[in-house]
Amino acid sequence: MHLHLKPVSFLSEKQSALVVTVGPELQMDSAAERMNEFSDGALLRILQDSGFEGKAGQTLPLYTLPGLPCEWLILAGRGPSHEFRRSTLIKVIQASCTALKDLKRRSATLALFDLCPADLNPLEAFTLSARLTLESSYQFLEWKSKPTPSVALHDLHFIISDKSLMTSCKQALDWAQAVTAGVTLCRNVGNQPANRCTPSWLAEQALLLGKSSKKLKVKVLGEAQLEKLGAGAFLAVTRGSEEEGKLILLEYRGAAAARSKSVDVALVGKGITFDSGGISIKPAASMDEMKFDMCGAATVLGVMQTLIRAELPVNVVGVLACAENMPSGKATRPGDIVTTLSGKTVEILNTDAEGRLVLCDALTYTLQHYQPEKIIDIATLTGACVVALGKVTTGLFSDDDLLAEELTEAGRLAQDPAWRLPLGGDYQELLDSPCADMANIGGPTAGAITAASFLSRFTEGSRWAHLDIAGTAWISGAKKTATGRPVPLLTEFLKRQTHA
Ligand code: BES
Ligand code: MN
Ligand code: ZN
Repeated sequence: MHLHLKPVSFLSEKQSALVVTVGPELQMDSAAERMNEFSDGALLRILQDSGFEGKAGQTLPLYTLPGLPCEWLILAGRGPSHEFRRSTLIKVIQASCTALKDLKRRSATLALFDLCPADLNPLEAFTLSARLTLESSYQFLEWKSKPTPSVALHDLHFIISDKSLMTSCKQALDWAQAVTAGVTLCRNVGNQPANRCTPSWLAEQALLLGKSSKKLKVKVLGEAQLEKLGAGAFLAVTRGSEEEGKLILLEYRGAAAARSKSVDVALVGKGITFDSGGISIKPAASMDEMKFDMCGAATVLGVMQTLIRAELPVNVVGVLACAENMPSGKATRPGDIVTTLSGKTVEILNTDAEGRLVLCDALTYTLQHYQPEKIIDIATLTGACVVALGKVTTGLFSDDDLLAEELTEAGRLAQDPAWRLPLGGDYQELLDSPCADMANIGGPTAGAITAASFLSRFTEGSRWAHLDIAGTAWISGAKKTATGRPVPLLTEFLKRQTHA
């Protein structure tokens, strides 16, 4: 889909579909008012008879009203202006996109310029609108033998009333397109079933991405190489599977040549292509959703896609820790002790706490080989994080106040929120083991925090943060789908690193 910016004069040009907003008690916003004038007051009379309440999320499409320049006029309810917030804007945009889809429009114009949510500035509101409209066309139809043909919106025009905003809106639009490309890649990879999306398939996707840009180099380490290095925790997870585990390395170099050696940020993604739990096997209900347990890795691929599109001047290394967690005669048993790449030993009390095992070795590898200024891991790590924060907010853990603040702020700006939880300290003793340096699980309490505290033992002395995306990476149930989160948060964070 292509987005275009237009001045208010565009309202009088001929178009296929135009969306204007209306509040309760027939309050017409300025674009609706214009259409009412064009129609000699017919619009108001129709509104009076229609029973249209102007609630946020309601739409009323009208066909060929005499005097109007548009074939379809879509009235979109926006609710009372004093209640207009970010969440209302989201409802209005989503309802408008659904109406346009139902009417099978290939081109349309949105005149939403009077809407400014109390909790966003006009540019933030525009950026959000652009991203929502781009994301509204997402479909994952690859595995449908007869995909239902839907007419996709091809051109969408945004009317911008404030001329002084044109330049910044144009930049916001380019950025929104780049972010959406990353979100879409993340979702496409995340949505693949585990019989296609194996660690080897993820490596192929990374190599394909590498072919698309000179700035991106991709390397893949297999199990033999990981064995040589001594990545015992990673290998303990992949042992039970027929699929070979892979550590996939993506090096994006966008910064000036003078800084070609340094790495600004490393992103380490959990890439469990299927998490059965291993010998500590999971219950059957919703186990299918454990195909999404590689969404951390998919996020890193998505971020790389955005970096390539936007040509951001930063150096970012992406590391995907990819393995399948399966039970078998070769699988790791509860009680087994392994030596991690760092040299620290771990007693594996529960083979379902596998994410932290692949990640601890991936983190050690990344710190040893790249010495990044900041390192962030992204993982669908714990059910406990979903209990704590639900499906709304990503869990954020860091000992570094400044880094935590930067990530929180990026999440707020990108409408992809994260919330900081505590870490380390007295929680560490929950990981004590009588036989090894540590156990891989804490007790029944504070599961998201003990998982993060486990990882913190492998990142000492570095500027590290951990994002637990167990609740936010996908939507569960009948309409299950990867969300593409937290690509918006991380790309916003990286964009802001370039201004620092
Ligand atoms: N991938 C899961 C976490 C998960 C569970 C994400 C449900 C989203 C929804 C992870 O590998 C896992 O199994 N974690 C265990 C840890 C426990 C054994 C300490 C969990 O959360 O139950
Ligand atoms: Mn697990
Ligand atoms: Zn898992």
